[in-house]
Amino acid sequence: MNKYNSIILAAGKGTRMNSNLPKVLHKILDKTLIECVLSTLDNAGIKEKIVVVGNQKEKVIESLAKEKIIFAEQEKQLGTGDAVKSAIKYIKDNENYLILYGDMPLISSNTIKNFINYYETNNLSACIITATLDNPYGYGRIIYNNNSFAKIVEEKDATEIEKEIKESNVGVYLFNGKLLKKTLNKLTNKNKQHEYYLTDTLEICKKLGETIGIYKMPNTNEFTNVNTRKELEKATTIYLDNILDKHFVNGVTIVSKNNTYISSDVSIGKDTVIYPGTILEGKTVIGDNCIIGPNTTVINSSIGNNVNIEYSKVTDSKVLDNCKIGPFTHIRPNNNIGKNSKLGAFVEVKNSSFGENTKASHLLYVGDSKVGDNVEFGCGVITVNCDTNFNKHKTTIKDNAFIGCNSTLIAPVTINKNAIVAAGSTITKDVEKNSLAIARERQINKKDYITKKE
Ligand code: UD1
Ligand code: CA
Repeated sequence: MNKYNSIILAAGKGTRMNSNLPKVLHKILDKTLIECVLSTLDNAGIKEKIVVVGNQKEKVIESLAKEKIIFAEQEKQLGTGDAVKSAIKYIKDNENYLILYGDMPLISSNTIKNFINYYETNNLSACIITATLDNPYGYGRIIYNNNSFAKIVEEKDATEIEKEIKESNVGVYLFNGKLLKKTLNKLTNKNKQHEYYLTDTLEICKKLGETIGIYKMPNTNEFTNVNTRKELEKATTIYLDNILDKHFVNGVTIVSKNNTYISSDVSIGKDTVIYPGTILEGKTVIGDNCIIGPNTTVINSSIGNNVNIEYSKVTDSKVLDNCKIGPFTHIRPNNNIGKNSKLGAFVEVKNSSFGENTKASHLLYVGDSKVGDNVEFGCGVITVNCDTNFNKHKTTIKDNAFIGCNSTLIAPVTINKNAIVAAGSTITKDVEKNSLAIARERQINKKDYITKKE
């Protein structure tokens, strides 16, 4: 197979979005529009990606810092043809270039693979995808002359008759590098918008005697491009629908499709039920037989089997099998919650590990702590992890310890195995195993205090 590279256009301002953010950085669930396109290219096996940036280029480049990408800069946004021309120094004669726009997040990797296959088997040097759209408004229209491709005419330049044409340019192209460079150098901006249109390269190819491959696809949502906020909402709905369909097939119950947001990289086990108001993002993995929601957010976390989480938020953490979380629990980053544990109402945990069968039912803060198995927290326990210089210290609580209500553990401190901390204690020293620590003022009852005062 020949070598296939890609050029993705992302230099435009996206005026119709009416936004301070460049269009390609608007998000569909947790992925920016451009990230959607780039991950599809990855799935289609295309390694080299040249992204053309211009408008607010720093922001776009920064957002893609983790990706392996070549950035080409378009100084002024003079049109899509000019944008590709900005990448000309990276275009190699004997390789092939798939060009697509950064605002088409729904295109599938299958379509890209089939398109490349069509180009390859027909031995082409220039090829486009077209679709017969019910509502082609805004798309370039395909003009034929004696049944042979002649040109693409943009909406703004189209005559009334041309506007009636439904076969549209979806905005995906394949070119041989040498031919692409030749045509880019011949582009002019003689049109209503005074822009250098990428679409005109096809007419130039035709005039050079090349055969233009037309890969026709049925009317599909894949080619939705996002130009306005309304189209962003439409694209999000379609994108989400595809994701939820996959989970339905995998045996997940989603109670209400309209109130559930699951991002593309999330995986969910069989017989798990997702209640409304749930948001699952990042590389979250959820096991079998869980009940998630209502109103729960899980980000980049791993949840075991038979876990219930309601009205809670979990970020960058691990929750193992059979745990019960919530309502109203905040699991902040970097926790490991052991099997059969329970974190209840208004419990906040951060950077801590909990052993098995640990119970923290109400009103706690546990940070930078290592908690063993079978530990029982009374209501209102606080680990005081931060000193006045904002240094963080560790609390260690070993197996079977019991921390009474409203106790404050001033870190660094260790509560050893089987130890008990009496309710209301402020613990500043380690507690030995099997001991009881009481660290509070003794109570004095002043007899008849009120009557004597009179
Ligand atoms: C474009 C096509 C149209 C096609 C449609 C499909 C052209 C002239 N028209 O129209 O035929 O039917 O897409 O979605 O190509 N960009 C730059 N630099 C620029 C201008 C644009 O990088 O100077 C980028 C934008 O960031 C955007 C993409 O190119 O991601 C497409 O630009 P846009 O203005 O949205 O083109 P459409 O009007 O949708
Ligand atoms: Ca567009």
